[in-house]
Amino acid sequence: MKYLVTGGAGFIGSNFLHYMTSTYKEDMFICLDALTYAGNYNNIKSLETLPNFKFIHGDITNRELVDKLFEEEKFDYVVNFAAESHVDNSIKNPSIFLTTNILGTQTLMDACRKYGIKRFHQVSTDEVYGDLPLDRPDLLFEETNPIKASSPYSASKAGADLLVLAYHRTFGLPVTISRCSNNYGPYQFPEKLIPVVISKALNNENIPVYGNGLNVRDWIHVHDHNVGVDLIIKHGRDGEIYNLGGHSERTNLDVVKTILKQLGKPESLITFVTDRPGHDLRYAIDSKKTEKELGWKLTYNFEDGIKDTVDWYLNNQDWINDIKSGSYKEAYKD
Ligand SMILES: NC(=O)c1ccc[n+]([C@@H]2O[C@H](COP(=O)([O-])OP(=O)(O)OC[C@H]3O[C@@H](n4cnc5c(N)ncnc54)[C@H](O)[C@@H]3O)[C@@H](O)[C@H]2O)c1
Repeated sequence: MKYLVTGGAGFIGSNFLHYMTSTYKEDMFICLDALTYAGNYNNIKSLETLPNFKFIHGDITNRELVDKLFEEEKFDYVVNFAAESHVDNSIKNPSIFLTTNILGTQTLMDACRKYGIKRFHQVSTDEVYGDLPLDRPDLLFEETNPIKASSPYSASKAGADLLVLAYHRTFGLPVTISRCSNNYGPYQFPEKLIPVVISKALNNENIPVYGNGLNVRDWIHVHDHNVGVDLIIKHGRDGEIYNLGGHSERTNLDVVKTILKQLGKPESLITFVTDRPGHDLRYAIDSKKTEKELGWKLTYNFEDGIKDTVDWYLNNQDWINDIKSGSYKEAYKD
């Protein structure tokens, strides 16, 4: 089987490629990534020498390039991780989010229609469901919940999801969508909560926490997310949405304190900063459908997963330093 994996130099996509290339040695994985500021070739450099991996530097919105690639490679599966993914950036500059996340998805699906594929899989997010109240722990996001996005980021992901479902209904394109909660693990760009905390704590810098830090997220190890994506691609039903959650709801403050404790750093580093506009209160995912239909199971609990993750960052400080210095941009040469 031949896979196109877009956004594979980012956090989740690179973990997916490490997992898939080592698990399915007989399959071929082609990564298309524009290497935006969030794309880091160092994340996948070690795959370069594998016979079942190839990297293409390019943009999913570039129709000519995408068409040529599909014509040449004749993909069986397309897995779309490519996206602008940082909510704060979407508040400052929504346009690029609409271009990449919606029009990029359209460009890929048009090529899928033209050249034929077995499955187009859209990697989406639980943020399309909006948020849940803090005082109703009984409420969870289900696949049938209405879309109620809060930020330009989540609205762009929701727009893409609607388009994916419309391509299925109108053109019969074989599609699936996964909606996952907050991921943590190796190779996460240090703009997101967990790597920010680790990197700042290691340098004894203040750690910014939005508002009162009581917003709740459901944390999942990136490996469990990717195992879910693999199962959905192979065994999910066409036109269906599958939730993936970590069963690990934690306040942002709890997450920061857990990491500080592991690093032996004082809680006095925590600095509360003005809340993010429109900040979602609570995300919590019901993944029963994916568990029942596809036999998906979590392998990490939060305590072990976060411990492994902190250890990974401790053992890979060069990886963070290359990002801080900007030299990660030199890792790939056209
Ligand atoms: N991080 C999370 O917790 C989380 C949770 C649920 C869903 N998701 C979704 O998973 C996907 C991957 O998220 P991530 O955290 O790995 O993001 P990321 O920002 O780390 O990586 C995104 C990757 O996409 C590439 N990219 C961006 N624009 C592109 C374009 N126009 N053409 C080609 N490549 C482009 C970037 O270079 C980068 O390598 C996204 O679709 C995101 O919405 C993320």
